[in-house]
Amino acid sequence: MKTITVLSRKGGSGKTTLAVNLALMAFLAGRKVMLADIDPQRSASDALKARTAPGPSVFEGGGGKLFHVKSNAMREGYDYLIIDTPSACEGDVAQAVNLTDLCLVVGRPSFLDLAPIVRTAEAVRRLGKGGFLVLNQIHTSKPDATPTASPDILEVLHLCGLPLAPHGLRSRDAFQKAMAQGRCVAEWEKAGPAGRDMELLWAFVETNLDGQQPAMPAALAG
Ligand SMILES: Nc1ncnc2c1ncn2[C@@H]1O[C@H](COP(=O)(O)OP(=O)(O)OP(=O)(O)O)[C@@H](O)[C@H]1O
Ligand SMILES: [Mg+2]
Repeated sequence: MKTITVLSRKGGSGKTTLAVNLALMAFLAGRKVMLADIDPQRSASDALKARTAPGPSVFEGGGGKLFHVKSNAMREGYDYLIIDTPSACEGDVAQAVNLTDLCLVVGRPSFLDLAPIVRTAEAVRRLGKGGFLVLNQIHTSKPDATPTASPDILEVLHLCGLPLAPHGLRSRDAFQKAMAQGRCVAEWEKAGPAGRDMELLWAFVETNLDGQQPAMPAALAG
């Protein structure tokens, strides 16, 4: 079983959106999936409760319960445990990261998100875990263009010591509409840009589940 934690100290950066969509992508690919919602807001659980079709199992509770959740899930033959975290509650988030194979630090490519992204990546590095940055809510006017950030933002992200996933998620209403029905954006608009972004990101995540060991940020190296 592989455990993936989605985290960011910045509220509203897209943790729940990413965690729920990843859990559903894995489930729809035939995997046995548990989503652990350790955010007291319980947004991920709410989203999956709105789902009418079969979906991932859900655990709701604090980070202190994750060890038992993980042990039980392993015993029950789950393929994935995906953890949605709150932006605060650092102790709970650290417990999630500690038992994780892959951390995904999610953030918007905007000036105000940069410092929280860098601090979150530092926390992942301090705990000796690997992972990737995932850009979310990327604004792009061309539906066929690869969503990415501006060169100055990419330069700062490059310094934070976690590699950037090559596929990000653009800003699309489909993410909000699909979530309201507990559906994955790839179910909602499979052939559309949001669905394609999610398919590419999931394929990348599934082939890089051991993460990359965090590198020393260039600013601190030698
Ligand atoms: N790619 C996207 N395109 C459009 N809307 C998005 C996208 N990603 C997230 N959103 C919307 O942005 C808002 C915040 O997203 P989300 O709840 O996933 O963030 P979060 O990091 O989990 O927030 P919190 O810190 O409160 O837990 C939600 O309304 C969500 O529907
Ligand atoms: Mg959330």
